[in-house]
Amino acid sequence: VIIHRRLCTNPADAIDEEPGVTFNIKRILLLSADGMLGTAWGKLLTREHIPFDTANFPAFDITKSDSIAQHVIDGCDVVVNCCAYTAVDKAETEHGPCDAINAVGVGLLAARCKQIGATLIHYSTDYVFNGRADSPYCTDTPRDPVNYYGKSKADGEALLERSGCRHLLIRTSWLYAPWGKNFVLTMGKLMSERPRLTVVNDQRGRPTSAEHLAASSLALLRRGAAGAFHVTDGGECTWFQFASEIGGLLGTTCEIAPCTTDQYPTPAKRPAYSVLDLSKTIATIGMMPDWKDNLRSVMDRITG
Ligand SMILES: NC(=O)c1ccc[n+]([C@@H]2O[C@H](COP(=O)([O-])OP(=O)(O)OC[C@H]3O[C@@H](n4cnc5c(N)ncnc54)[C@H](OP(=O)(O)O)[C@@H]3O)[C@@H](O)[C@H]2O)c1
Repeated sequence: VIIHRRLCTNPADAIDEEPGVTFNIKRILLLSADGMLGTAWGKLLTREHIPFDTANFPAFDITKSDSIAQHVIDGCDVVVNCCAYTAVDKAETEHGPCDAINAVGVGLLAARCKQIGATLIHYSTDYVFNGRADSPYCTDTPRDPVNYYGKSKADGEALLERSGCRHLLIRTSWLYAPWGKNFVLTMGKLMSERPRLTVVNDQRGRPTSAEHLAASSLALLRRGAAGAFHVTDGGECTWFQFASEIGGLLGTTCEIAPCTTDQYPTPAKRPAYSVLDLSKTIATIGMMPDWKDNLRSVMDRITG
């Protein structure tokens, strides 16, 4: 067991611009605007009246340089990359597409952004860490993934960092929204169909509302932040506690029981502890709302 106790990066390092300077956004290119996070970004930019273009798969393909060159063009000063291969279990056997989208494609996109002078906002995951820590992972903790998806995202991070393009690398975890494929919607459906559910109670992490993630990413961008940041909801829980809260908000009669990871085997290994340290982000844009508050606000809209 690796004991991981040290202070995370000095929050004063968080801004690469002069204090108080804000980033002036001209036009954003939103890649994969139809994914879970991409949808949240699209709604946010519309609400904020920020000009943006979108490019979605298959018209846009991050694995192909010519597609990147065709869509990522002069005129946009910020590129938001919501493309990803997110099938964590399938990734154990589908190495080719997983690497092409999460690693090589990110390198190609970053090189193009460097060429046209655009800032790239890219997303990564708690799964780049080994899950054996007992205190939150800092933004500069060495990457040490335990599954293939995590490895591909870690490789993508490294290629982004090496590209020399101005970037915001934002790691997040346990993403959910009123749309898309996610734990909250899946649990809600299962609770309406089954009398009893067992949910893993020995993996700890931080749920994250995709809308909160998009809004916090925009706040970091506007603040002139660059480099690696973590954005999640505040607080922490296990999947069982997350499911229990969902069940409580739904008023479900389904019995929700805890189980261990060993009792729920999956093709890809999951990190036991994947809480991301938020201190650098909080120092830059303020507190992250508690996960129960964000969940309640999302569930109000799902059920309302
Ligand atoms: N979901 C989570 O719990 C979670 C946790 C931590 C980090 N993250 C990270 O957060 C980011 C957003 O995740 P998400 O859950 O919003 O993902 P998502 O809903 O699965 O969306 C991924 C998008 O990428 C698109 N895509 C697939 N192949 C592509 C290609 N070759 N070229 C261009 N686009 C392609 C997909 O299009 P199609 O639908 O047409 O295939 C989809 O629109 C990702 O970087 C992910 O790794 C997610």
